[in-house]
Amino acid sequence: MALSIKNRKIAVVGVGAVGASTAFALAVSGLATELALVDVHKAKAEGEAMDLAHAAAFIKPIQIYAGNFEDCRDAGIIIFTAGAGQKPGETRMDLLKTNYRILKDCLTQMALTDENILIIASNPLDVLTYAALKATGLSPERVFGSGTVLDSSRFRHILSEHCGVAPRNVHATVVGEHGDSEVMLWSLADIAGTRIDHFCELVGVPPIKREEVDKQVRNAGYEIISRKGATYYAVSLAIKRICESVIRDENTILSVSGLVDGHYGIDGCCLSLPSIVNSRGRGYPLELPLAAEEEAALRRSAEVLRKAIASLNL
Ligand code: LAC
Repeated sequence: MALSIKNRKIAVVGVGAVGASTAFALAVSGLATELALVDVHKAKAEGEAMDLAHAAAFIKPIQIYAGNFEDCRDAGIIIFTAGAGQKPGETRMDLLKTNYRILKDCLTQMALTDENILIIASNPLDVLTYAALKATGLSPERVFGSGTVLDSSRFRHILSEHCGVAPRNVHATVVGEHGDSEVMLWSLADIAGTRIDHFCELVGVPPIKREEVDKQVRNAGYEIISRKGATYYAVSLAIKRICESVIRDENTILSVSGLVDGHYGIDGCCLSLPSIVNSRGRGYPLELPLAAEEEAALRRSAEVLRKAIASLNL
């Protein structure tokens, strides 16, 4: 499918591990024609830009440079990754106060309009997405977070490994907070249109231990951070995938985090629901039929997020 949006300039704000990996993924993808790397540590942004620009002979033509906040104004997509990352044992919510302050400070210098699409990837990303929506006043389809696109990929990976099929044949979605209260939608999970438990019987593998898989997905970030200090490859590729659906106007259904106003009786927060992502940004989230316990868990997740939002007096 042809690249559809005209403005393929992308700004990445924050070039720590996630921001730099995202810039790398975007540079290799050929999706962007211009990549502005913005960071308070200017030398870091310059170094990352130089290192990527030197790959020019191996990638599609792209202009990569260390930019300023002004470079966000005419960017089609701004990816926000600035802020602290979790230290071993820290929750994403523990980063709230620090990263909210950084977000607010950056947003005042970016002066975004509804010409821009702002994708939040800093944690706790659902609360920061809500804060960004409030601070910018932009339309809800233009400000959203990478959400549980990453978690859904983790869910699909584990199921694909267990069942011996390619991850792209596994439909499995995580909704709610990108964090400890997230919800694995087992009732909607399928492989080749077949319920997971039935598929396991079909291919003769042991039944899935749902609680175990649940734990693996929910704790994946902690497990990686305890071993290598941070996560950045999968999340940067999740962000790249979201940008791809925007730039190619794909209408892909992705569980990005966005404003919820009434779905499942929830409002007043941002969280991940399967949503159609295209050149306009995050389309209306889908209110798919969930099992009763999944809906209850989703509402509990919303409660966690609303409490965090209230703590910021938003
Ligand atoms: C993780 C970070 C991106 O889940 O929150 O790896």
